[in-house]
Amino acid sequence: MKKIIIINGVNLGELGNREPDWYGNSSFEEYLKKLRADFPELEIDYFQSNSLDLLVDKILSSKNYDGIVLNPGAFTHTSIVLADAIKAISVPVVEVHISNVAKREKLRRESFISAAVIGTITGFGLKSYRLALDFFSTH
Ligand code: DQA
Repeated sequence: MKKIIIINGVNLGELGNREPDWYGNSSFEEYLKKLRADFPELEIDYFQSNSLDLLVDKILSSKNYDGIVLNPGAFTHTSIVLADAIKAISVPVVEVHISNVAKREKLRRESFISAAVIGTITGFGLKSYRLALDFFSTH
């Protein structure tokens, strides 16, 4: 069975309460139950942190996974260290965003991690994660 880890960054522990017009009404934990049910062929682990250091440590210690689904939250637009961590491992990473970042403020159009990942899925709501898992399921 393929092992995948979903890593959510800063403020993504607040899904369900946070800016529902952008991020919807479901907590990630609720949505994760559906993802696990819908992808029985994948073993899906989950990690969320608001700490950049812990996110880097988690990426570097994920070498035994077949894939990483990563939504760094606002660190996407500020952090070179996450890109460096991704480049330090050989596990394929898919970048996901719930909202369509291209449609929002200009500062959200830049991603420091896009150049280090296989591809980016953005703007499909929580379904962005499903699309990333679909990629790993058939990859
Ligand atoms: C986000 C988009 C980021 O710009 C924002 O800071 C987030 C969430 C998304 O999933 O749409 O926290 O990564």
